[in-house]
Parts: sequence; C-alpha cells; structure tokens
Amino acid sequence: MKDIKSYIAENKVPNHIAIIMDGNGRWAKLKGKPRVFGHKNGVTAVREVIEGCGEIGVNYLTLYAFSTENWNRPALEVKTLMSLLVSSLKKELKTLQKNNIKLNAIGNINLLPEKVNIELTEVIEKTKNNTALTLTLALSYGSRDEIVNVIRNISKKVVNNQIKIEEINENIINNHLYTFSLPDVDFMIRTSGEKRISNFLLWQLAYAEMYFSDTLWPDFRKENLFEAIIDYQNRERRFGKISEQIEKINE
Ligand code: FPP
Repeated sequence: MKDIKSYIAENKVPNHIAIIMDGNGRWAKLKGKPRVFGHKNGVTAVREVIEGCGEIGVNYLTLYAFSTENWNRPALEVKTLMSLLVSSLKKELKTLQKNNIKLNAIGNINLLPEKVNIELTEVIEKTKNNTALTLTLALSYGSRDEIVNVIRNISKKVVNNQIKIEEINENIINNHLYTFSLPDVDFMIRTSGEKRISNFLLWQLAYAEMYFSDTLWPDFRKENLFEAIIDYQNRERRFGKISEQIEKINE
C-alpha cells in the first residue's frame, strides 16, 4: 500500500495548523493509570506532529498546552504538567536547533512558575533565528483573556492619543493579540472526540477549517495528522465567497 504521506498535495499544505491536544486523562484512565501518565505519554504525540509538520513543510504549528482554566486542576496535575514542560524544553532544544524550528509562546506567560519561564525564555532566545517551522506553545492561554488584554492595551493608546478611535480596525486588533507575529490559522485539529473550541484562538480561527479526531492525544501519530491534512485538502475554502469566484482565483 502507498504511504499515506504521498497522498498529500504539496501545494495545498496548510500554512498554520493549531491543535487542541485532548484526551490525555481518559487515555490514562483506560489503562488504569493516574491522569499524569496520560500527559507524560502525550509528549510522544507532540514530537510526532512536530516531525510530521516538518516533513510536509507546514510553516506554523500552534499547540494548546495549558489553558487559563487548567490552573483549576488538582495541584499535583498542574505541577506535573509544569515539570513536563521544563524537562521537554531542556531535552528538545538540540532537536529544535537541528531541525531549524523556532519556539514561540502565547498566553499569560508571567503566571507560569519561574522555572518554566526561565527555560522557555532561554529556548525562545536560542531558536529565534530558525526559519523552518514556528512552533507556538499556548501556555496559560485563554482567548477571552487575550481579547480583554487587547482592549485594555488599545484603550490605553487611545487615552494617550497614540491611536484615534476611528483608526481601530482588524489590523490594529491583530497587532495587539498574543499572536501578532503569526498568520491566521488555516486548520484546527482537536483530538479525543470532543467538538468544542474551549477558549482557543477565537479571533484567529475565524476562517479555519475544523477537524475532530476520535483518537486520544497520546495515541495521535504522524499518520493521523496526514489523514487530517488530506481531509483538509479535499475541502473548498470559500471565505464567504461562492464556488465560481474561488475557481476564478485559482485559475
Ligand atoms: C488535555 O488532556 C491535555 C492537556 C491539558 C495538556 C497537554 C500537555 C501535553 C500533551 C504534555 C506536554 C506538552 C508539551 C508541549 C511538551 P486532558 O487532560 O484534558 O484529557 P481528558 O479530557 O481526557 O481529561
């Protein structure tokens, strides 16, 4: 049988993929293990999707690693997730460099424990000149929190006469989001069968295609990613236009 990757059209690879990595807890429970076992095994899936994106030339990959709501989880789970981040960042720096991957973070990073913050800042700094794939980790991220911040920051500029109210447009809003340096998301994947956005990139997903996989995150592999991308490539993105207009643009 032909390798699934060979069915991917090179000229239609999504530029920016965002993933809600869901199902770690359920995966662990099915195995009779504590929830944190699922998170630990989720790291393998993270590596797989990064590698897969690299192989087919995706430029931006954004992973929902920790939401503003996740702070409300049991203390031990939060602690394990934070330790996992530190150890993964330490372990993966070499691989990021070797594969020309630039690390980026979005969210209320100041709320993260100092250890995570230090490690994160170091890896971001060391990989800042890499050009193949931009890997963004959403950490202590919530889209509503992000939008509140945008409104506060733009309002301050209005009060200080740096921006006029009439000048506020989509571009100015984009430039004040945590994602100011990233393009819009083309393709959003959520694993584990849940069909929700859960406060993830509400503004940035405006025209994204959505894909919901029943696979639990720790089981997600490159092949699952490629299957999702093939599904994406068979869709028609109309951005509010009609089919005939899109066909004209593509002519
Ligand atoms: C959701 O599953 C997953 C998370 C809240 C954390 C994701 C973290 C990782 C995959 C590990 C570390 C990440 C990096 C970037 C190194 P869940 O716990 O909500 O699962 P459930 O819905 O089955 O309970």
